[in-house]
Amino acid sequence: MNIEYIKEKRKGEIADIISRYPADRKKSALLPLLHIAQEENGWLPVDAMDEVADILDIKPIEVYEVASFYTMFHLKPIGKYVLEVCRTGPCCNVGAEELIHYLEDKLGVAVGETTADGLFTIKPVECLAACGTGPVLQIGPEYHYHENLTREKLDQLIDELRRAN
Ligand code: FES
Repeated sequence: MNIEYIKEKRKGEIADIISRYPADRKKSALLPLLHIAQEENGWLPVDAMDEVADILDIKPIEVYEVASFYTMFHLKPIGKYVLEVCRTGPCCNVGAEELIHYLEDKLGVAVGETTADGLFTIKPVECLAACGTGPVLQIGPEYHYHENLTREKLDQLIDELRRAN
């Protein structure tokens, strides 16, 4: 696996981000630096998180804790499109869980897994702040929202994304 180290590659940007915070609170730059590490690698390998810890003079465990808390960070390689289905209460009440199972059957992978063609990863996430129009799907990397989701809409979206490749 090739790791894209960020310290030298994005030196100026990192220095600018860190300079926004008091010198004794460098850790406050953790989220933006994790975004940079993920942009460079497509996901967050342990080595990349360790580099972020080194840059910020904090323990690697502090980085792992934050990276594993937020679903926007990927701790495993992902497909070209990440299908993030909201699984919080209001969306579950209108069928989100059933649609997640439908996606698993349709794509032949379980949640957290990526299809063999490298196109799709299914990732259940918490509330996407569109609770009135659930079930809601967000598709990364562009993070477009698809609301009032149905099986038919999912079929259409998957077909469109497959055709685009
Ligand atoms: S509960 Fe699904 S968007 Fe809020």
